[in-house]
Amino acid sequence: MSEDVDGGWPTGAGDPVLLSSGDRVTIRPLRRRDGPGLVAMVDGLSAESRYRRFHTGLPHLTHAMVDYLTAIDHHDHEAMVAITPGSAELIGVARFVRDKQRVDAAELAVVVADAWQRRGVATALLTALAQRAAELGISEFTADVQTTNGPTFGLIDQFDKDAEIAWDGSTANAHVHNLAWRPAAEPTGRSVLRRFAAIASPGEGAAGEPGVGRATSA
Ligand SMILES: CC(C)(COP(=O)(O)OP(=O)(O)OC[C@H]1O[C@@H](n2cnc3c(N)ncnc32)[C@H](O)[C@@H]1OP(=O)(O)O)[C@@H](O)C(=O)NCCC(=O)NCCS
Repeated sequence: MSEDVDGGWPTGAGDPVLLSSGDRVTIRPLRRRDGPGLVAMVDGLSAESRYRRFHTGLPHLTHAMVDYLTAIDHHDHEAMVAITPGSAELIGVARFVRDKQRVDAAELAVVVADAWQRRGVATALLTALAQRAAELGISEFTADVQTTNGPTFGLIDQFDKDAEIAWDGSTANAHVHNLAWRPAAEPTGRSVLRRFAAIASPGEGAAGEPGVGRATSA
């Protein structure tokens, strides 16, 4: 594997991953120069996916957002990207930002290009990100999720069926204790999806405060 360096941190060329769909992608840490690829991916998202990820109707990332999202120190802020092998197109990003109060906790966010959703990209990204988090002493995660965001509750369910969900109007805060992939388990009483199905209410959420899961220039 050829070596690449980002801000003094060796990011490597990335690892080839075979997705559940049979597609192959490369997963590697995000680099500062991924800004244009990130902008292109977000520009190409459906309005729904963009809203679900950034909690805002903004059609494009601002310069400040790109700066924030690519200013990765690989310690308190880490991000993994998925790249197509042929075109080197950026098709997904998962990131965490360590909690300022708790060194073992971080806020989590993930987004996958619409054409690539439901093929296992987020699973591959979160699996790689979980490994980085473990290396950095982070074991608990929170994520802001709109209550209508069924795919994300499904995703959380696959990683942690005991995730705690605090419902707050149009947004829920998910507290994930265990970011480890558990495929195709039988539904349990505590399943996040079951709780989502029982509680989710129609209507979109309102734009939120800055945070890793939201539009931010912080
Ligand atoms: C949520 C999101 C990241 C999932 O990415 P993805 O690459 O499609 O997810 P995966 O293919 O790895 O799916 C893993 C599991 O999540 C669940 N899931 C994913 N998409 C789902 C959907 N549309 N409906 C129901 N469950 C879904 C399933 O359990 C799936 O496993 P399966 O396909 O074996 O049934 C993607 O839908 C997305 O980018 N949404 C917009 C942004 C967003 O909502 N981000 C999260 C808020 S921070």
